[in-house]
Amino acid sequence: MSDWNRGYPTDAVYVDAIQPAISPWRWKQAVRFAGRDGPDPSAPFRFVDLGCGTATTMTALAAAYPWGQFDGYDFMPEPVHMANEIIAEAGLGNARVHEGSFGEMAATPPEVPYDYAAGHGVWSWVPEAVRAELQQVLAAWLAPGALLYLGYNTAAGWSASEPIRQIFRQTPPGPAHDRFGPARAAVTAWLERTGDRQPMVRNHWSTMKASSDGFIMHELGNPHGTGLWLEQVLAVLDGAKMGYAGPSVLAEHLDAPFLTEEDMELLRRAVAEGWGETARDLLHGRYFRKDLYHRGTPGLPGSGMVAAMRDLRVIPWDMEVRMGTHLGVYRRLRQPLPEDLAARVMGLASEGGTFGAVMDGLNMETLQAFQVTLMALVSGHLLDVRPEDQVAAAQDGCDRFNAVMLVRGRDSGHLPGLVSPVTGTCLQFPDEAHREALAGRGSAPELFERLARIGIAFA
Ligand SMILES: C[S@@+](CC[C@H](N)C(=O)[O-])C[C@H]1O[C@@H](n2cnc3c(N)ncnc32)[C@H](O)[C@@H]1O
Repeated sequence: MSDWNRGYPTDAVYVDAIQPAISPWRWKQAVRFAGRDGPDPSAPFRFVDLGCGTATTMTALAAAYPWGQFDGYDFMPEPVHMANEIIAEAGLGNARVHEGSFGEMAATPPEVPYDYAAGHGVWSWVPEAVRAELQQVLAAWLAPGALLYLGYNTAAGWSASEPIRQIFRQTPPGPAHDRFGPARAAVTAWLERTGDRQPMVRNHWSTMKASSDGFIMHELGNPHGTGLWLEQVLAVLDGAKMGYAGPSVLAEHLDAPFLTEEDMELLRRAVAEGWGETARDLLHGRYFRKDLYHRGTPGLPGSGMVAAMRDLRVIPWDMEVRMGTHLGVYRRLRQPLPEDLAARVMGLASEGGTFGAVMDGLNMETLQAFQVTLMALVSGHLLDVRPEDQVAAAQDGCDRFNAVMLVRGRDSGHLPGLVSPVTGTCLQFPDEAHREALAGRGSAPELFERLARIGIAFA
């Protein structure tokens, strides 16, 4: 038997999901916040998705960034075929998915290197030898100054849950229609006996057990699946001359709004002693990191970061309708912005339209105005939007991609998400009632009104 899959489970395609954290527009803000410049997401760029699966996120981005060139690579032929079908249906001339392994990619560098790379659900699912191939790919395929996004399982969250993987690896499979039934039952039995002693593991399993077999196979049935510390990732990336550029999600650059004073004290001590990122993972209870890494991206002076944030266009928003415009971290904020302040910020955003105009209108000392406006953005009272010329250029492609998603979603009962030309990001719909309304069953006028505000309208 051939070993083309290098021990990776290839008998079922991974779930067809959309990842809102993958967004060149939002990455620009995140790296700037961390004091670095990055590639310009409003100028022509090249983007490569490593281990792209069905490439739904990449295809959505190709619609939202028609001036970018998008290439996905995966060694499983089935998702490659599925992805190219959707790209053709949506009429996107700037995206293509290729069948190829990381080993093959390492041996055939492109003539023109890439400005962005993404690898979601790959790094902590493949053996060390394949991570070494990925290192070679990054060294040869990425331009100086490029940014890489990696979404991977962290050791901090996963180490306590490792017995779940162990049980999945050892329990013999059930019949074809219930392959993981025996392993699911074994984990449930173990946690029924011991769950009180390990509430984190019990909670982790209670969300995981509802997942489809396709997801479970890649996540738990995979012999190489593991959780990693940041330094383990960095040790490999160093060989591609790459370094850490911070979380891809702006909110995750902040600690104080999420941690208690005592936790912050411990974090400050950990930072001083050199185990700061480990402490962050532990104190924030992270199971998954969605991080950015740079390949020699220059630093920005402090004033550059503030100037960039000031220019950011914002509109008033709130989180009453859950539609994935803000990643879930805002739910963990310890203290929401006081209602009167939130209302003031939202009022200013509807008048002025930029982060800087909101700051100025608050009539506060600069640092305080910056913090309040930032908190409003992080907690969902403001939504960052792209310049109008970019929105206009992206509208047609996004309309076509969204139409394809809706028709497929109606036919298959599965809607991974949609894309907004206004925010340059994908959206997931966590509420069942919203997914039903989008499938044409039931109504959700509040959802459709919100979608229209970010450039998603239906005939
Ligand atoms: C967990 S899935 C994630 C798919 C996609 N990035 C997403 O988030 O939906 C991991 C993907 O990596 C691909 N993969 C694993 N090892 C690979 C290799 N050595 N070369 C190319 N693709 C690989 C698998 O086929 C699979 O589609």
